[in-house]
Amino acid sequence: MNEPVRAAFGVRLARPGDAGAVTALLRASYPVSMAEAYPAEVLKLALPAMTRANERLLRSGSFYLAEGGGEVIGCGGWTAERPDDGAVEPGLAHIRHFSTRPDWGRRGVGRRIFEACMAQARGEGIRVFECYASLNAVAFYAALGFRALGERHIALTPKQHITSMQMVREL
Ligand SMILES: CC(C)(COP(=O)(O)OP(=O)(O)OC[C@H]1O[C@@H](n2cnc3c(N)ncnc32)[C@H](O)[C@@H]1OP(=O)(O)O)[C@@H](O)C(=O)NCCC(=O)NCCS
Repeated sequence: MNEPVRAAFGVRLARPGDAGAVTALLRASYPVSMAEAYPAEVLKLALPAMTRANERLLRSGSFYLAEGGGEVIGCGGWTAERPDDGAVEPGLAHIRHFSTRPDWGRRGVGRRIFEACMAQARGEGIRVFECYASLNAVAFYAALGFRALGERHIALTPKQHITSMQMVREL
């Protein structure tokens, strides 16, 4: 009889105790992937805040980790609250902090985490996902069925801003 095929990675909900592993993952992933799309001076300003695990997400019950080889190799989740101002609109939810460690890239980690998010959100009455995609991740979200609405610019200093793409997907 054939051996069952073993998944190379598994997906589970994150816990507050995962903060260190998530920060290490974000630090390994964001600077590498974002360097394709943003100038170094923008990343120097933006990355310190972007590469810290978000304690509220870890406690949210809707933030997932992928583990492979005993290590955290991917993360991502969703919240009803909009990331910038915490506003809640019925039926709409927001994609948060997706990240895959570069040595696990393009192996379906992000897609699998997204599928877990989608199943959970549908069960909670969410009809539309929105994300503010970093420009390097637009192709990833497009492959997951998102469409671009337009660019957003967030001021980092009076002279520097970071651009992201607002994208949406019906569930
Ligand atoms: C974006 C990111 C999470 C994608 O994770 P991933 O696990 O590599 O993605 P998957 O393997 O699940 O990719 C699913 C599909 O998305 C598309 N895709 C993913 N990365 C892509 C890329 N760099 N270029 C073009 N298409 C891409 C492909 O269609 C892919 O399917 P395929 O490999 O069968 O062709 C990862 O590159 C990352 O961590 N980037 C840095 C952090 C970041 O920018 N996060 C988003 C913040 S908004």
